[in-house]
Amino acid sequence: MASLFNFDHVVPRRGTGSLKWDKLPTLDPFWVADMDFTSPPAVLEALQERAAHGVLGYALPHRGLIEALLEYMEKRHSVAVEENEIVHLGGLVCALSMIAQAIGKPGGEIMTCTPIYPPFIGVHHDAEKKCITVPHIEVNGRWEFDWNAMEAAVTPDTAIFLLSNPQNPLGRVFTRAELEQLAVFCDRHDIILVSDEIHCDLIFDETKTPHICGAGLPDELQKRIITLLAPSKTYNIAGMGYAFAVIRDDSLRRKFTQARGHTQPEIGCLSYYTAEAAYRHGEPWRKELISYLAKNRDTITDFVRTRMPGCSIPDIEATYLAWIDCRALGHDNPAQFFEKKSALYLSDGAYFGAPGHVRFNYGCPHSRVLEGLDKMANVIA
Ligand SMILES: Cc1ncc(COP(=O)(O)O)c(C=O)c1O
Repeated sequence: MASLFNFDHVVPRRGTGSLKWDKLPTLDPFWVADMDFTSPPAVLEALQERAAHGVLGYALPHRGLIEALLEYMEKRHSVAVEENEIVHLGGLVCALSMIAQAIGKPGGEIMTCTPIYPPFIGVHHDAEKKCITVPHIEVNGRWEFDWNAMEAAVTPDTAIFLLSNPQNPLGRVFTRAELEQLAVFCDRHDIILVSDEIHCDLIFDETKTPHICGAGLPDELQKRIITLLAPSKTYNIAGMGYAFAVIRDDSLRRKFTQARGHTQPEIGCLSYYTAEAAYRHGEPWRKELISYLAKNRDTITDFVRTRMPGCSIPDIEATYLAWIDCRALGHDNPAQFFEKKSALYLSDGAYFGAPGHVRFNYGCPHSRVLEGLDKMANVIA
């Protein structure tokens, strides 16, 4: 089928106030998780239409957005959610911080498995809690939970488990069996399971590795589950600031919303409209995006395995993020090495709880992926 959208087009982003491109403007950026593609045309049209109204006052989630979210939950995740089970948010990192503050006693613990998206191992500071990290283990080339180590690490003070589902940076999609085992583990130890599903619409083969939504796990476990979702990664609208939580249990939801206090600003009036348009009209774009990213994923996987001796990469099932193990190169800080030697800006694995690794964001035109990889291979050689 002919392509409707041009993902090969290189859009200049430098000088647009872009975190990715303007933070360290002398470097070639493959770090923070936003993509170098323009958002779906339907999203941009909705944005322009709402802006053209001209009055940009305080907003609330309008009917169209709510209907789009309920339909998304039903069609995409097979979960029939009630409107009141949804909490609208300006982002997910602030939600993680709110959860750290809302759940558990002072001095309590937050557990997560590493490597992991850095705020997961940072939000405990906001709540004067402790963080317990348990490394994932590699079994036959696939990253899994280390159940024995998790049982050994959990204590009566552990109140929260933070899960990235699918996993950033490993690119793993967890199976129903794994997620149910995790939810039962949390239930048994009276832990709130936070399933952050911001990457769930970026899965390459949904037949082989379907997404299992936290809100769809068995009802009897829902009193301890918070599911976090957003259109931001998939439709490249992270800069708009919109996300939502699905919390099916009334008392857990109340706890969460009370923790908000007066700390959260109103959500921007434009972002409600971009979120609605993404979920309502973004599907044809998303499908093409996934095929395009799959090509990038295959390129990077093959390249690392054949042209970057000393580096290794797991099979990637989801996300546009590649986790590259560079420990055999012998550099203490490979991200710094690539920065100094080839002016590349990669994410440093140390922030994910795993020094010696880098994360490469391949959510960009294929030509840029090749440029970045060539720069890496040249300095390794
Ligand atoms: C797992 C995960 N959660 C949350 C976020 C960021 O969410 P937000 O921009 O809504 O704060 C990211 C961004 O990369 C992420 O990977």
